[in-house]
Amino acid sequence: MEAAGWILLRLGFLPFRFFRQRKVIKMSEEFMNVIRSRCSTRAFTQGMVSEEDLEQIIEAGRTAPIAGADYRMSHMTVLRDPEILAKIREGCMLKRKDGTAVDPMYGAQTIIFLSATGPSEDCIEYCNVACAIENMALTATSLGLGSVYLWGFLKKLRKQPDLIDLLQIPEGYTILSALAVGYSKDPIQPHEPKGRIAVNYV
Ligand SMILES: Cc1cc2nc3c(=O)[nH]c(=O)nc-3n(C[C@H](O)[C@H](O)[C@H](O)COP(=O)(O)O)c2cc1C
Repeated sequence: MEAAGWILLRLGFLPFRFFRQRKVIKMSEEFMNVIRSRCSTRAFTQGMVSEEDLEQIIEAGRTAPIAGADYRMSHMTVLRDPEILAKIREGCMLKRKDGTAVDPMYGAQTIIFLSATGPSEDCIEYCNVACAIENMALTATSLGLGSVYLWGFLKKLRKQPDLIDLLQIPEGYTILSALAVGYSKDPIQPHEPKGRIAVNYV
């Protein structure tokens, strides 16, 4: 009798296990699709990211891994103010080889700056902010939004303290990276990556 009860109990759990496994496989497929869909967006529409989507993206960044869980090492600044955006855009225009001007933020209306204390000798602060940026880029992709890592134009920005002041970054923090987020003019969909990092197995 006891054995029969045990068998019935096990059988009862089988469908549960089957559906759980199916759910896990589906989730991992969806996750891989997000990874395959992420790309650098270099043409944003004027559409504004909703507060709800922005909060999800910010939360993904804020909860990224940080060395030694020392979250005070990093800081995030969300720039949406059109006047400040215009000033920074104007002050940091890049030039193509043919001399034409390029908006370093590609028309994005939301820029998330990542700053950090230091940087220390081993530059771990750069690793911290990169983790936050990738978390946010993937979240943006999952919401159907475009994003692009911004590094190049920060060199120009750092030379203009009057523009940096507009961002009200807390004292002791330096901008290390930024992420532009917004609606992409091109579809966000799974695609073949531009390349792959080489790997060896031992
Ligand atoms: C650390 C880092 C800095 C980057 N800086 C810039 C940048 O300043 N401007 C830009 O347009 N793209 C920048 N990118 C985006 C890369 O050029 C892009 O990720 C790469 O070409 C691969 O293309 P994909 O993002 O579309 O897959 C940066 C990416 C990384 C990881």
